[in-house]
Amino acid sequence: MEFSERIKRVQPSQTLVITAKAKELKAKGIDILSFGAGEPDFDTPDFVKEGAIQALKEGKTKYTPSAGIPELREALAERVKEKNNIDCKPSEVIITPGAKMGLYEIFTVILNEGDEVIVPAPYWVSYTEQIKLCDGIPKILDLDEENGFVLTADKLKEAITPKAKALILNTPSNPTGAVIPREELEKIAEVCLKNNILIISDECYEEFCYDKEHFSIASISEEVKNITFTVNAFSKSYSMTGWRLGWVIANEEYIKKLTIVQSQTVSNPTSFAQYGALKALEDKGKFPQMMKEEFKKRRNFVYDRFISIDGVKSTKPEGAFYIFPNLSNFIDGERIKNDIDLTTYLLEEGKVAVVPGSAFGKEGYIRLSYATSMENLKEGMKRIEEALKKLKTI
Ligand SMILES: Cc1ncc(COP(=O)(O)O)c(C=O)c1O
Repeated sequence: MEFSERIKRVQPSQTLVITAKAKELKAKGIDILSFGAGEPDFDTPDFVKEGAIQALKEGKTKYTPSAGIPELREALAERVKEKNNIDCKPSEVIITPGAKMGLYEIFTVILNEGDEVIVPAPYWVSYTEQIKLCDGIPKILDLDEENGFVLTADKLKEAITPKAKALILNTPSNPTGAVIPREELEKIAEVCLKNNILIISDECYEEFCYDKEHFSIASISEEVKNITFTVNAFSKSYSMTGWRLGWVIANEEYIKKLTIVQSQTVSNPTSFAQYGALKALEDKGKFPQMMKEEFKKRRNFVYDRFISIDGVKSTKPEGAFYIFPNLSNFIDGERIKNDIDLTTYLLEEGKVAVVPGSAFGKEGYIRLSYATSMENLKEGMKRIEEALKKLKTI
């Protein structure tokens, strides 16, 4: 086989190991509760589906402009002005096949070989691998649990080298649920401006903030907006993960380059899906608000349950739909050598599937998604508690 050096640098997702084992057990008829999901457990709303169905019936089934249909770019520019307070023109918007493709296009456009991208850890799994695919170097910045895994400007300064090209922000965060407060984002922006560092702000979970308001760093000033790529998607907020629709807001010159990548790779985001997304925007945030209320109840439940278990520590997630408890007390170096052993144990003994923290660059933790019914969560937490009790705690 002839593989490029580039593909050899990239890891397959570690989460697949546990997912494959969970599938194997389920196939044997064993009742496994799965908390690995990275998507809401709600169906896409009917009004969105209707928009796409109507587009299909009207024959809107051909190539669209590479950057997306003008109506959607216009509606998004209006939406980010209203919701995110970012002064935005349609020419500063590109519609992408999911936030993931938007991120990949950004790395393609800004990175030269050896450029560093600062990735605060714990991080969402694809950042590091996409950076490597684009010949960059992920510069991991370990965040402090004591500070709720929130990135601070002082912490950021520790990671800056002359090769630093960009910084990833992910607020609210997958996997920790941490939300970076406005005051800190203002200080972070100052550091980035001073050091010529571009900002890639992944705001996919902006609709799910439970304790404080979401704040978009690009709204600080025109100067900050000019160095920022604001990445977002319909995936989580309108439960449209399978539709593959996201967007990037950036300086028009960057949008032109992202559009070149898009036109030479996927051509355009799926035509009729874009018409569904137009309907999602007409809803003005009511649907995500409904999900947020439900997620908040579940967040409170899983957090209270985890911290009541002997030996478990956890930060309180302020957003997204994940919790990232510290289970390092259960890693004894013998039977349980690391968090992969621990998640395998929880699967085999507790019949629950969760993702090991090491998949997100932080050993000794697990990520549990509470985008599932309260009934599942109640049963799942009971199983986790019982399984952990059987292990020796320090
Ligand atoms: C932080 C974060 N960014 C981006 C994505 C990708 O979103 P999309 O499905 O729109 O590509 C995900 C999906 O899990 C995510 O958690």
